[in-house]
This record gives sequence, structure tokens and C-alpha cells, in this order.
Amino acid sequence: MEILLGVSASAACFKAAALASQLVKAGHGVTAVLSHSATKLVTPLQFSCLTSRPTFSDEWKPEDPAGMDHIQLARRADVVLLVPATADRIGSVAHGLAPDLLGSALLATEVEKLRFAAPSMNPDMWRQPAVQRNVAQIVADGWQLVGPVAGLTACGEDGLGRMAEVEDILAAVQARV
Ligand SMILES: Cc1cc2nc3c(=O)[nH]c(=O)nc-3n(C[C@H](O)[C@H](O)[C@H](O)COP(=O)(O)O)c2cc1C
Repeated sequence: MEILLGVSASAACFKAAALASQLVKAGHGVTAVLSHSATKLVTPLQFSCLTSRPTFSDEWKPEDPAGMDHIQLARRADVVLLVPATADRIGSVAHGLAPDLLGSALLATEVEKLRFAAPSMNPDMWRQPAVQRNVAQIVADGWQLVGPVAGLTACGEDGLGRMAEVEDILAAVQARV
């Protein structure tokens, strides 16, 4: 399967690198697209090392000669993963916004394709009514959620909001492809 791995800027970003590695080992082709903010937490080169492919993050420095990376990325993917999915990114997807290359690629992806999101955030962020409205919207739009789970979050607070374990995200994807 061809997988577009969208990475948004959560403290759990580093786990997306482990997921990329596991997906490649499982025989999938993985192309990572980092949000603009995610590049402050993890590097495109890290994902390129693990996927043996270019990693995308800047729509103004396209790989595609016609400049349409977001379309090429969307068409190539069989499955889309948003791991981790921040509160901000979930809201952006729920409202059909495209603030960066990742947003444009997600918007350009055919709605029939399998799309998984693994939310990751502080427990109080997760239970905000506004966040819950956005989560309900993306689920209604066809996204499948993996997690979040209860436990210690990166900010040191305990509760529901911790990203699902990499093995569980992998299992959820493998069960559907
Ligand atoms: C160190 C750090 C860790 C963060 N962790 C999270 C997180 O786990 N979940 C979340 O929703 N936002 C988190 N944020 C805030 C997001 O990075 C911020 O909302 C950003 O705009 C998200 O952009 P993106 O969704 O385009 O990647 C964190 C910010 C910083 C500086």
C-alpha cells in the first residue's frame, strides 16, 4: 500500500518516525508530509532516512516540476494517516482549511480513501467542546480515529489525550488494508 503519513506538531511527533519505520518494515511505501509547525519538532531528513523517500513540508519548494506536490501526494496515496493529529490540525481538517502543504494534500485526497487520525494532546485540550465538535466532524466526514488513550501525556498531565501506541496504530491500519 502507498501511505501518506501526515505529521502535525505534537510532542508525540517523534513517535510518527517510529511508525514510518514500522510501516516500511511491513512492506508499505511511505511518504511523509510534515506540517510547517512539525518541522520545528522533527526534521524532514529524519523521515527521509526512515522511508528512503523525499519528505515534504514546504509547498513553496515543490518537488513536482509543475509545483503541484499536494495533488501528486494525494493521488499517489492509497491510505492517509494523520499521526499525530493536533487539536489545531483536527480543527483545520474539520473546516476544510489548507494552511500549508499538509493541509492542501489532505484536502486534495479523494474522500473514498481510507483516512486515519491519531489525536494527541493535553487532556483539557481533548475535552474542550470546540475540539470535540471538530473531532465529531472529521469522523462524520469519514476519518477513523485511533485513540487517544488515557495515560501520562508529554506535558506531564494524566488523562485522556495521550496518542495511541505505535503498535496499535499499525494494527488498526493493517486490519483495514
Ligand atoms: C513543544 C510543543 C508540543 C506541543 N504538543 C502538542 C500536542 O501534543 N497536541 C496539540 O494539539 N498541540 C500541541 N502543541 C501545539 C501545536 O504545535 C500548535 O497548535 C500548532 O499550531 C499545530 O500546528 P499543526 O497542527 O499545523 O502542526 C505543541 C506545541 C509545542 C511548542
